[in-house]
Amino acid sequence: MNCPPDEFQRFSAGIVSEACEIEGYLSPDEMRFLSLIAAVPRASGEVLEIGSFKGRSTFILASCARFAGQEKIHAVDPLIAPAETDPDLGTEDSSERDFFANLELRGVAEFVAFHKELSHELAEHWDSPIRLLWIDGDHTYEGTKRDLDCFRPFLSDGAIVAIHDALHEFEGGIRVFAEDILLSRSFGACGFVGSIAWSQYRSDSLQTRHFIGEKLALYKKASRLIPYVAFGRRLEGFEKKKYKLVRSRVPHGAVDPEEWLALTANPGAA
Ligand SMILES: C[S@@+](CC[C@H](N)C(=O)[O-])C[C@H]1O[C@@H](n2cnc3c(N)ncnc32)[C@H](O)[C@@H]1O
Repeated sequence: MNCPPDEFQRFSAGIVSEACEIEGYLSPDEMRFLSLIAAVPRASGEVLEIGSFKGRSTFILASCARFAGQEKIHAVDPLIAPAETDPDLGTEDSSERDFFANLELRGVAEFVAFHKELSHELAEHWDSPIRLLWIDGDHTYEGTKRDLDCFRPFLSDGAIVAIHDALHEFEGGIRVFAEDILLSRSFGACGFVGSIAWSQYRSDSLQTRHFIGEKLALYKKASRLIPYVAFGRRLEGFEKKKYKLVRSRVPHGAVDPEEWLALTANPGAA
């Protein structure tokens, strides 16, 4: 962190309270965490958001990347709600007008390179290293896996991947995080904050060796959720209660910023 911790806490609190005015699904703990991972780069490269909706996380990422001295972030969303991939959006019309209005009103529109297309379409012409990949778009297993697979080749050493809704009733986030990240030698430090699953990509698997025990312990707990949501099942009644019980055993509290920074310190960072 290139400023005193209390200065960052004040900055983050201001951003989170402004972001609360934008309709969206991120909780305050999740927003604080998102502000930390955007404001304090662990690697060099771009910030890429997949799934913007009305701009809650876009606003946080753009403001915090500016705090880190980065001119722009990238965001991709076709803005075509209602989305079959996200039942929470219900029957709403497109979020496009609200999205741009929210960014304009808060003075960050010019700091967002917006791509109005599907994430895998963007991947076809994407060619920049990524330092933060925020996945909050298609919540199906196929969609979330495709997002990770498409952009993984661009992750810089030390980059953070964060997937939203991994502890909500969607198959994509939890399954991709458990199977493709926790069981991969390419990822080190990891955890959950609220429903955000996050991990740090390392290009040298030797750097992830000392996280294996921790990753397997988290895998054992997190993977127990997969049968509840596999094949896009929607939960009801007793099944839903059991899911919530299993979920409560997955550690997902707020992180201490200083501890998180020590855990993810990357000598390769710019
Ligand atoms: C849960 S909302 C995103 C919420 C937003 N991150 C926030 O903080 O409020 C999911 C968004 O992902 C978008 N989406 C769905 N599939 C997508 C895809 N394949 N590529 C990019 N965006 C996608 C939807 O249009 C929707 O706006």
